[in-house]
Amino acid sequence: MPDVPSTVDEAAAYAARREALLRGSHRALIERFRKQPIELRQFAGPAAYVDRVAHLRIAHLTDLHFGRVTPERVQREAVRVTNAQAPDLVVITGDFVCHSQLYLDQLVDVLSGLDAPVIGVLGNHDYWSGADEVLRALRRADVEVLRNQSTTITLRGEPLQIVGLDDAYTGHADRDKALKGVRRNAPVLALSHIAEEADALWYHGVPLVLAGHTHAGQVTLARLHEIAIGKLAGHRYVHGLYGDRGPMHVDPRGALYVGAGIGAAVMPLRLGERGRREVALFELGLRLGSIAEHHEEQPALPGRKPPKKLVEKRKIAVLEKAKRREKKKNGGIILPGG
Ligand SMILES: [Fe+2]
Repeated sequence: MPDVPSTVDEAAAYAARREALLRGSHRALIERFRKQPIELRQFAGPAAYVDRVAHLRIAHLTDLHFGRVTPERVQREAVRVTNAQAPDLVVITGDFVCHSQLYLDQLVDVLSGLDAPVIGVLGNHDYWSGADEVLRALRRADVEVLRNQSTTITLRGEPLQIVGLDDAYTGHADRDKALKGVRRNAPVLALSHIAEEADALWYHGVPLVLAGHTHAGQVTLARLHEIAIGKLAGHRYVHGLYGDRGPMHVDPRGALYVGAGIGAAVMPLRLGERGRREVALFELGLRLGSIAEHHEEQPALPGRKPPKKLVEKRKIAVLEKAKRREKKKNGGIILPGG
């Protein structure tokens, strides 16, 4: 950078060079974040699965956010990292897309590359972008989506019940419906985009809930993520392991894992070890303490439940967005029932 400019022309040239430098370093910074490796984190348990299932490896991915902000290269790397661990099942806890339907073909192409069976639930971004279209794409990619329902999948000859809660952020979760027919005396695992749903699921005998949505706050330096996601957004659970994996579940009665996710919705910025893109492995059937783990169960933050009115407003916002999309498709005319 030159000395302090003394003329108007020099000042203008100085400002232009400075801006170009800043733009360049900003681009370089973004590029660096995009190239960050995907973390692999591994956990055992909970104890409730020991003696009930043979060793099953569940790979948990979340918040892929297929779209402009998350490069296809990152999505393909997530699939490569997952396949390399040879999981018995892959679960994805919502926000498959970012803000539009423009990347659905990419989603189908990339997710079709997962070797294991895939089960997922929707997130708020899927609703905002068009749940029906996202569901159609997921069907093409052979991803089974659970919308307030459960399924039993047989892995290594053993049945595992999977409960899928629809997105609670936009008011689509119905716990009673999701748990209908789920047997307490058989192993069960639950998926929910919003982690706070875990508390109630534990009381219905679900020992492990996998969730997403928070992206671990993306910036986890100086515990900024807990301030942003915990205090400001009112989440009790920000990233990683919470609850209790047993064997003596009293209160809390189960465990929860909030994945840091793969993609981003606005900025790809991910700072701090906890905020990195992540694939988490849960080794069901393994005893606690039998493998090295990234961290232990953490205490929940105080949190703040969103008022019912706000959730209702979010639900209406999803319908409004769908109407606007339909109107755009029909050249500005809203058709009857549209
Ligand atoms: Fe989300």
